[in-house]
Amino acid sequence: GTTLGASAAEKGRYFGTAVAANKLSDATYVGILNREFNMVTPENEMKWDATEPSQGQFNYTNADRIVSHAQANGMRVRGHALAWHSQQPGWAQNLSGTALRQAMVNHITQAATHYQGKIYAWDVVNEAFADSGGGRRDSNLQRTGNDWIEVAFRTARAADPAAKLCYNDYNTDNWTWEKTQAVYNMVKDFKARGVPIDCVGLQSHFNSGSPYPSNYRTTLQNFAALGVDVQITELDIEGSGSTQATTYGNVVRDCLAVSRCTGITVWGIRDTDSWRASGTPLLFDGSGNKKPAYTAVLDALNAG
Ligand code: G3I
Repeated sequence: GTTLGASAAEKGRYFGTAVAANKLSDATYVGILNREFNMVTPENEMKWDATEPSQGQFNYTNADRIVSHAQANGMRVRGHALAWHSQQPGWAQNLSGTALRQAMVNHITQAATHYQGKIYAWDVVNEAFADSGGGRRDSNLQRTGNDWIEVAFRTARAADPAAKLCYNDYNTDNWTWEKTQAVYNMVKDFKARGVPIDCVGLQSHFNSGSPYPSNYRTTLQNFAALGVDVQITELDIEGSGSTQATTYGNVVRDCLAVSRCTGITVWGIRDTDSWRASGTPLLFDGSGNKKPAYTAVLDALNAG
């Protein structure tokens, strides 16, 4: 293939990007998006603060713009994210206990129903584990009871039975890290007890503090062996030039080596679109030119 999406499709995978609704009027941005990618993740527009700014009052305007753009251009959509401790609307941040649990359930039901049939996979729960210690992250959602994650998955399944349901997190790339093991054990438990989970998303924001690990392929394989798909959901890699390009290529080769690694999403198009305040972590430079990292990804997708 000659584009990321077409080359990934030849290997039975997708290649996606995070998209921001307010950039859909940027011709350079949209040109690259439509040419290269066949999956999109709304970067912020499906989050709780965006979709339910006042309790019970839903606003899907910006998220719908992205979904419409995707559908009109033959791209699928990853929904992000139904239940998360961050980017909650102020009213939810002020709830606790039963009221918060009910608000979470209602939010999941409403959002997953609004998009029923239009979402390839939902990040049902995002970032629920602590960075160290091997336990859950403390949050208002966690304080509603340890079962909040499985309740979120069962609620999403009831609302949109066709969507794949994912658990998504960062710093779960290195197989030896406590956080990776904690998520692995949760997924294993969910599969054993019939909690509806279909996929695990590894965000894969790589930087000096959490670099690409040499055991990344092992991590992907071990999650897949639990009977779930694995997806690389928010890939970006700090650095530049050939070093960065080599790491991007390694990530792609690792995914292709695992049959249940079904796709890769980068967290933005141009370096200037990145959530990172500085740095050059993506595949296109600020002018939209292909970087060495782009070529490494394309070559890895086309190898073999
Ligand atoms: O839209 C408002 C704007 O109206 C306001 O004037 C401006 C002033 O601060 O803020 C704008 O909102 C910002 C929003 O991005 C849209 O640009 C928020 O402040 C800012 O916090 C938000 O950052 C997002 C971040 O999640 C929030 O946690 C990033 O764009 C987004 O890339 C990032 O994505 C997360 C994933 O969802 C989960 N995994 C980690 C990843 C990177 O942090």
